[in-house]
Amino acid sequence: MKKLHAVVIPFPAQGHVIPLMEFSHCLAEHGFKITFLNTEFNHERVMTSLPENVNKENQIHLVSIPDGMDPGEDRNNLVKLCETTLRVMPGYLEELIQETNKSDGSKITCIIADETMGWAVKVAKKMGIPQAVFWTSAVGTRTAILHIPQLIEAGILGSDGIPVKQQMIQLSPTMPALNTDHFAWTCIGDSNMQRSLFRYIVSNLEDIKDVDWYLCNSSYELEKSAFQLNPNLLPVGPLLASSQPGQLTGNFWTEDSTCLNWLDQQPANSVIYVAFGSFTIFDKHQFHELALGLENAGHPFLWVVRPDLTDGPSDAYPDGFQERVASKGRMVGWAPQQKVLAHPSIAGFLSHCGWNSTMEGVTMGVPFLCWPYFADQFLNQSYICDVWKVGLQLNKDDSGIISNGEIKNKIKALLVDETIRERALELKERTKKSVNEGGSSKKNLNHFIESVKGK
Ligand code: UDX
Repeated sequence: MKKLHAVVIPFPAQGHVIPLMEFSHCLAEHGFKITFLNTEFNHERVMTSLPENVNKENQIHLVSIPDGMDPGEDRNNLVKLCETTLRVMPGYLEELIQETNKSDGSKITCIIADETMGWAVKVAKKMGIPQAVFWTSAVGTRTAILHIPQLIEAGILGSDGIPVKQQMIQLSPTMPALNTDHFAWTCIGDSNMQRSLFRYIVSNLEDIKDVDWYLCNSSYELEKSAFQLNPNLLPVGPLLASSQPGQLTGNFWTEDSTCLNWLDQQPANSVIYVAFGSFTIFDKHQFHELALGLENAGHPFLWVVRPDLTDGPSDAYPDGFQERVASKGRMVGWAPQQKVLAHPSIAGFLSHCGWNSTMEGVTMGVPFLCWPYFADQFLNQSYICDVWKVGLQLNKDDSGIISNGEIKNKIKALLVDETIRERALELKERTKKSVNEGGSSKKNLNHFIESVKGK
């Protein structure tokens, strides 16, 4: 029988590498051989963050190609990153496929590219290889991108993608409203950068026309209305890392697993977990307000303070903070987030509402305290607070800050809210059904695998 071999190509950012790695594990469990293609820069980060017990015998083969940026350049500059990847990566991908097909026992049977990497689809089409694209964020976010022509037609966006004015728009009566300032391209840099990113997105839309399969990390259950506007899209989520020991996760930072022992010592349902994904950056003032809010709330907390979480030094805590919270607070550089969220001591998740964090919190039945930072995170907050009703929102004060008082009060309110907790547990059960045998996401996964076999 033909051996299935997929090349999986994530967009070069942590929030994309993790879900595509999870999807790769799903496929590997169904007998696929996976060649997982990172940029050289990210490959290096993944390799240096591997835990000691990592299982190198699995079917995921990590490879890399250059992203076209210089070693010291800022990879958080998305416009530059998109420009350079588009320029250099197609050529390297073509070479890699040719080499792999020559040298490897199992030829490449399909390409699974992040939906934002349409250039990879073009390469696959040119080489006659079946293609799937994978959307890693909310389907609601994708809907806004698909509606770009209508938004221009309606005079909401200029033809260069810049909103004519900031406003809330409703793409369907049952989907949450979207803020025109929170589109993927309108929330970054100056207007020139926004125009460049918009051009990339529009040309990417062309590249992903007529792809063999459109997949995403969501479920019909979670985003019913958005799926009505995305009829070709097959949800296979929410995905999670499988619980195999030593599983590759694709983390860019080394997980500090000692926090799990610390969680073991906390009472059940008592700890607030605080994490803002891979991208959020706080200024010193906001960082201090958060620290004081956690301290004053009086509950145990586990806080992920990434080395680059602040725009100053990473240990810029308020004076005496670390000593004062030593008995009830724990700070780590990067946590094994899914294991943390599954821990019985966790009572709430103070989150930036990145889509992966949102899916993980939902799957573990954890109530949210929402602190969106940019882009799709505001829509995800609307899902959490207004549609699924499994969380509370933090509000900024008149100076644009989320104050320590607001943080303290909302933590206290969340942790006594039985209704939210019950709804989160119900949503967890409903969500689990879609990925379990017989569920809609599981059926879509099986359908995808069978149709790759048939190609
Ligand atoms: C980015 C965007 O910010 C987000 O809005 C978009 O939806 C996806 O891409 P990021 O900010 O990294 O993602 O957030 P998120 O989507 O939540 O992904 C973070 C991932 O890192 C999650 O899978 C989470 O489990 C993992 N993580 C985070 C850890 O493993 N440990 C940590 O300490 C923090």
